[in-house]
Amino acid sequence: MKIAVFSTKPYDRHALEQANREHGHELTFFESRLTPATAALARGFDAICPFVNDDLSEPVIDLLADAGVRLLTLRSAGYNHVDLRAAARRGLTVAHVPAYSPHAVAEHAMGMILTLNRKFHRAYARVREGNFALEGLLGFDIYRKTMGVVGTGQIGAAFCQIALGFGCRVLAYDLYPNSALQAAGVEYADLNAVLSRTDIIALHVPLTPQTRHMIDAESIARMKPGVMLINTSRGALVDTPAVIAGLKSGQIGALGLDVYEEEADLFFEDLSSTVIQDDVFARLLTFPNVLVTGHQGFFTKEALERIAGTTLTNATAYLTGSDQIQKVPLERIQFEE
Ligand code: NAI
Repeated sequence: MKIAVFSTKPYDRHALEQANREHGHELTFFESRLTPATAALARGFDAICPFVNDDLSEPVIDLLADAGVRLLTLRSAGYNHVDLRAAARRGLTVAHVPAYSPHAVAEHAMGMILTLNRKFHRAYARVREGNFALEGLLGFDIYRKTMGVVGTGQIGAAFCQIALGFGCRVLAYDLYPNSALQAAGVEYADLNAVLSRTDIIALHVPLTPQTRHMIDAESIARMKPGVMLINTSRGALVDTPAVIAGLKSGQIGALGLDVYEEEADLFFEDLSSTVIQDDVFARLLTFPNVLVTGHQGFFTKEALERIAGTTLTNATAYLTGSDQIQKVPLERIQFEE
């Protein structure tokens, strides 16, 4: 199959070329992001392989379908960037990588919690300057704290197990409670209870019309004062100006973000010599109790291998009509009217 890979970084290329030894697809790598302006590059390809910040809105889907593309084989778990209704209308199949390494993201979320709590980011800089004072580095025991987990799919479930391992009480919310997690000690409650009764909140739901800005001024007001909020899922789960107001008032005690609503213009690029134009993002970076990573939760060796393998297996399965293809589960998606 002729596959155009967009937003290619050297590590993507390496992993896909390795995995392709088993598949023999014809891969062409483009560094460019997929946008209405670059969609023409897809002409002559059967499939495209986009990443999380590629534009798969309706106009781009139309351009791709007109160019002859039949398959979108996403190299991500999330598919909020794809207009699925437009893809269905144009007869495009959308496949994704549902569980390449939920542990990669879950471990990153716990890493953010440990860093924000014990201030590793500040300690690292201090010690290198010869400053061994402990003022400002005070943390708390995570043991016996109540962890709120919003979304207990693949990543949320892995995160719950880590939190249980730390000796936390875990209070979770999901549309579909997981009985294995319940047996392991996770308690399910409604969203309001999870947001208002927990010390640390980790977001692991996908971005959908229902979850967009689920963390806003109103939900922040219901949280415990000084709560720690972690978002490794998708930026738009959080209303960033509301979170900034919560940080300024102290209602939010610490914030860890691996994703940001407007990240498409920032993340995955070296912008160290440019002036950041996004004032909301720049404000976030001024808080000592905010940790931002640039969408690196997925970035482990194991995850890259699995992403490449499943992405190409999806293409092969599409060609052969095999049921091994991991299609986006349309039956669980409520389209916004
Ligand atoms: P998943 O599909 O296995 O789990 C999502 C869970 O959320 C499901 O249990 C589902 O029932 C629940 N859910 C969906 N809508 C809900 C709602 N309105 N209210 C309550 N629960 C709801 O997905 P997975 O693999 O756990 O990934 C979660 C998200 O993590 C992805 O959608 C993606 O946005 C993000 N992600 C971030 C990465 C990173 O590098 N930071 C890497 C991979 C995924």
